[in-house]
Amino acid sequence: MADDSEIGRVGPRARICIDFGTALSKASLCLDPTLPLEIGVRPIPLGLVTEADHPLLTPSVMFVDGGRLFFGPPAFEYARRNVAGNRDPLLSFKTVLGAKDVAKALATQLPPSYDPTGTFRQRDALVLYLAYLDQVLSEALRRMPDLPSDVSGVRRRYTSPVWTAGGSVDRVFEQIFNEAAAVSARLSRLLLSPEGISIAQCRDALEKAAAQPGDGKLDSGVFEPHAAAAAALAYTNSPTRFVCVFDMGAGTNDIAAFDFNETVEPPTLSEIKEARQCTPLAGDEIDRILVDLIMRKRNAPDEDRRVYRATRLHARELKKELFASGRIGLKEGWRTTSLRLQELMEDQTFRQFLAALHQSMGLSLGAVADRARAAGVNEIDIVLAGGGANLPFMVDVVRLAGAQAAPGMRLRIGPLTPANALYGSIDQYFVAVFPQIAMSVGGALVELMPERAAA
Ligand SMILES: Nc1ncnc2c1ncn2[C@@H]1O[C@H](COP(=O)(O)OP(=O)(O)OP(=O)(O)O)[C@@H](O)[C@H]1O
Ligand SMILES: [Mg+2]
Repeated sequence: MADDSEIGRVGPRARICIDFGTALSKASLCLDPTLPLEIGVRPIPLGLVTEADHPLLTPSVMFVDGGRLFFGPPAFEYARRNVAGNRDPLLSFKTVLGAKDVAKALATQLPPSYDPTGTFRQRDALVLYLAYLDQVLSEALRRMPDLPSDVSGVRRRYTSPVWTAGGSVDRVFEQIFNEAAAVSARLSRLLLSPEGISIAQCRDALEKAAAQPGDGKLDSGVFEPHAAAAAALAYTNSPTRFVCVFDMGAGTNDIAAFDFNETVEPPTLSEIKEARQCTPLAGDEIDRILVDLIMRKRNAPDEDRRVYRATRLHARELKKELFASGRIGLKEGWRTTSLRLQELMEDQTFRQFLAALHQSMGLSLGAVADRARAAGVNEIDIVLAGGGANLPFMVDVVRLAGAQAAPGMRLRIGPLTPANALYGSIDQYFVAVFPQIAMSVGGALVELMPERAAA
């Protein structure tokens, strides 16, 4: 272990990568990309600070209620207690970040079901959430052992669903990060309070931050699948030349493929553009299908919004249990509705979802196979990333799509794992969520993609 003199100050190559996913926010620290992985790269325990279900994951949620704003797990709690109130917790920044016209999307007012006070625009919500995340991050870094004392000052990257090397979107985000830094400095630990924070205070902090932004230490955006591929290559024992990443998160399913060339120094990871896709065939869509099926099984009338909302707020847990144990039982007063996994698998809408997933995977696999064939290679690594990597049907869908779209190719399919022989002791809790934290790990680790590959 390093002594105090070695860990006194961070080096110039240190960086933090933040991945604020639709469902969960994650962050990782890279002290120096040339250090051995187990010393150089550390996931940051955001969930430990917010007392979330997992120490490395914290829910990306905000909730406006009773003149106050709540973040993280308490926001979920308030939303669940308040199902009769026709209110939604704010669940996704992804649509805003991925919008064609980002400036317009950011300027949009939050819908009344999120913010009945009509106070906040999407941009305000993003600034406030990032300010909150900045506080969570600082506290998590404080709790991590053996880190240099000035670690919270290192530059930050964020993973992005759109690739924008030095583009205008990055400048928009720089401004947002700078305002978030000012809000974080002003509201400080109030942002972490489970009792929430008053809307008046938030508005005041937003106005002051707009007039006098801070330093958000923003380094750059990192294209999410590129970050995932970098993590896959960093942790693998036997890299292959062609890697295809399926990152199924909550909001989007991002597919991208890369040609990894080790014959040049430094090795390059160039993207096979024809394989790139971003579809909504992801966790939230499965949740919607599941909730609809449950509502039908319960025979609940469509207009029973309270039951619908309550079920929706529990959908992620229900889905996880359904796929893990093969069945779920739902209590509603004296009545229990049970649902078997088989019923979901046979549901017509879910079958349409699987067919669309199959088709989209085939499109990308076909494009990678063409490139591999041209290079005289007959093997492709398929890396399953994101929470969707836990879904048991994924491997079968990829295999079937590959057999049709990439005949003759050997596909090595598996979830992203840190089980590299070089990576000595691995905590089980780290392995279990590796497919989800890999984008922040790889994003912190990777040398940024050269401009020419980003056209
Ligand atoms: N064990 C599991 N079984 C089924 N689904 C799971 C499991 N674990 C996580 N998920 C699902 O994975 C999704 C969360 O994954 P992830 O953290 O990769 O998403 P995200 O990064 O927040 O979203 P996005 O990348 O789309 O913005 C949720 O839909 C969640 O329900
Ligand atoms: Mg994600």
